[in-house]
Amino acid sequence: MNFFLETLQVMVLSIYYLLEAFVKLFIPTRRKNVAGEIVLISGAGSGIGRLMSLEFAKLGATLVLWDINQDGNKETARLVKENGGLRVYTYQCDCSNKTEIYRVADQVKREVGDVTILINNAGIVTGKKFMDSPDDLVQKTLEVNTLAHFWTYKAFLPAMMASNHGHLVSIASSAGLIGVNGLADYCASKFAAVGFAESIGLEMLASGKDGIKTTIVCPYFITTGMFDGCQSKWPRLLPILDSSYAAKKIVDAILKEQVYLVMPRSLYFVFGLKNIVPVKLGLLLGVYFGAFNFMDHFKGRSKND
Ligand SMILES: NC(=O)c1ccc[n+]([C@@H]2O[C@H](COP(=O)([O-])OP(=O)(O)OC[C@H]3O[C@@H](n4cnc5c(N)ncnc54)[C@H](O)[C@@H]3O)[C@@H](O)[C@H]2O)c1
Repeated sequence: MNFFLETLQVMVLSIYYLLEAFVKLFIPTRRKNVAGEIVLISGAGSGIGRLMSLEFAKLGATLVLWDINQDGNKETARLVKENGGLRVYTYQCDCSNKTEIYRVADQVKREVGDVTILINNAGIVTGKKFMDSPDDLVQKTLEVNTLAHFWTYKAFLPAMMASNHGHLVSIASSAGLIGVNGLADYCASKFAAVGFAESIGLEMLASGKDGIKTTIVCPYFITTGMFDGCQSKWPRLLPILDSSYAAKKIVDAILKEQVYLVMPRSLYFVFGLKNIVPVKLGLLLGVYFGAFNFMDHFKGRSKND
């Protein structure tokens, strides 16, 4: 096709897709049925991982729960069963360790079957200024928040590709779309997680594997304890998200096969502006939204947690 025709085609389709997106705002979106799907959730032993497990159990999915914290993971399984979940399997897995991920993944394939919805949710945060962050914690942050995604994809993607059926979910962060003062290693790990998930999503489409969906989740602070102490400067504009609300929205985005979920909605506006306004204006808005001070009162989880 020549340049003129292809450009015309793109312009016509752009208008069509914009209109389609607008119309879809007013009509309910179809949700997929996940009954019988094998859903693996890493970091299921607390927070969002636990709450998503409860949501998926209600929908009749088979649950494979991974966490480094065996007690937390068992407690999630107990709650899942108490709430009617029938098939739930727990595995202790340190997601910072590639060998362990591959070993436990093989065990899951033998004992449960091929995972069809993979949710990379396990995450940690150092919560210190970069020069105060111990090297081993910086490394661990990248191993858990990013590299674990590579190894879990390597383990579970082949079966999804063979059947052209599956869903890859990355619980990233709004800190994966914009830098934050005092969160250098965390932001780097989440930017990488977003880039990785986005690229593999494209790789699946380009290789004709359109039955493998991608959902990339970028929330602001959630009340799970991970970012305890952090405050929002303008809670009406940028509210700290309730953990049950966030988990429900994430599961709903997966059911709708939504590619990106950014929460709260006001952040779509912030990220849209980020790349088009002059740098000085971007900094002014950063100060206005509190991005320089988000971490000032960070406590995070206590060591025992
Ligand atoms: N809480 C927030 O404000 C917030 C905001 C944006 C994104 N997120 C992301 O959401 C995800 C869930 O966070 P959460 O708020 O539920 O935190 P959380 O601390 O409650 O849960 C994280 C879970 O990951 C597990 N985990 C930690 N290291 C692990 C390892 N090496 N191997 C296996 N499991 C490990 C923990 O035991 C814990 O159960 C994380 O990826 C986090 O970065 C959280």
